[in-house]
Amino acid sequence: MPEIMANTNHGKYPILIRTGALAQLGEVAAKTVRSRKAFIVTDDIVEGLYYSAAEKALVASGFEVAHYTIPNGESSKCEKNLFEIYTAMNEFGMARTDLVIALGGGVVGDLAGFAAATYMRGCNLIQVPTTLLAQVDSSIGGKTGIDMPFGKNCVGAFYQPKAVVIDPGLLKSLSRARMAEGMAEVIKYGCIRDAMLFEAIEKGQADMEWMIERCVKIKTTVVQNDEYDTGERMLLNFGHTWGHAIEKVSGYTRYTHGEAVAIGMIKAVDLGVKLGETPEGVKERILAVLEKWHLPTSTDLPVEDLYKTMLSDKKKLNGKVYYVMINNIGESKTRPLSEQELHDLL
Ligand SMILES: NC(=O)c1ccc[n+]([C@@H]2O[C@H](COP(=O)([O-])OP(=O)(O)OC[C@H]3O[C@@H](n4cnc5c(N)ncnc54)[C@H](O)[C@@H]3O)[C@@H](O)[C@H]2O)c1
Ligand SMILES: [Zn+2]
Repeated sequence: MPEIMANTNHGKYPILIRTGALAQLGEVAAKTVRSRKAFIVTDDIVEGLYYSAAEKALVASGFEVAHYTIPNGESSKCEKNLFEIYTAMNEFGMARTDLVIALGGGVVGDLAGFAAATYMRGCNLIQVPTTLLAQVDSSIGGKTGIDMPFGKNCVGAFYQPKAVVIDPGLLKSLSRARMAEGMAEVIKYGCIRDAMLFEAIEKGQADMEWMIERCVKIKTTVVQNDEYDTGERMLLNFGHTWGHAIEKVSGYTRYTHGEAVAIGMIKAVDLGVKLGETPEGVKERILAVLEKWHLPTSTDLPVEDLYKTMLSDKKKLNGKVYYVMINNIGESKTRPLSEQELHDLL
């Protein structure tokens, strides 16, 4: 089974990627922690699909199991649920040495991850991502947190799990739109770092397990070099500087995150072409794979609004916004643009 070791400032942890890996959750947990108490956080959709398999695997390895289920959706990534999780963990008699398991998409991963990071100043955490987006992106890298009334992901912590268990078989129940959303991130990895991955997507020949493994390798390598997101990790923002602005300006309802990122990648490539960074033909190849997954590639949102929103974005460093430039499929770098430069280009 592909097992990738992620190296962080706080030690190493294994990332298992294998269809059927959920059945091995108990073994992985027993190898990872000494305690035999596991608290699963999940959402009401994932609970119905995979909770009993997760519980069964843990019980078979000698774990006592309790769980907390949140309603599915972004609005659950909130302080109220966080506090209810703390209370449920306390009622279960959780200590720092015990284990929190995040079984779900990125919402569950971020929320349960933050609960694990802060309960008793930090207890053991295993991520079991169940959406493609969570398997290739949010479960790796140690960012956890919740949304606040004043902004998304505004309170959180960098907190690394003890293991990540990725079972691509769990994606079978995901809707096509949710798959496409994850594919936007997969395409992003291909663009910034992996021409072979990109070609496999172009040909429609990519095996899911193989594809996830390539993405996880890229994310772990980039994060390893830049755990606290001050340099190389910015490459992972390809399509996101525009994407976040598109989500914000459209009120988070019109586009999914993946759709906004798809449009954002094309906007970023347009900028790259104007600056002479991105050669002919690259845009067409990216357009073609996005369209294959029925992802949007343009928007009628006013450029002026997007521009203003981007400038107030948190990625604005030293008065400059860092854009990811695609120099070729699989090759990228960041380039800072001042407000004036950006305004002139647009
Ligand atoms: N921590 C990070 O580095 C990071 C990175 C990217 C995104 N995120 C966060 O991730 C969140 C988005 O994650 P997401 O797209 O996974 O959303 P999500 O967790 O809301 O899951 C999407 C939907 O799919 C359902 N679902 C989950 N697994 C399923 C399965 N196997 N079969 C059928 N349905 C399933 C969920 O119930 C939910 O309704 C956002 O809050 C975002 O901020 C975090
Ligand atoms: Zn993203």
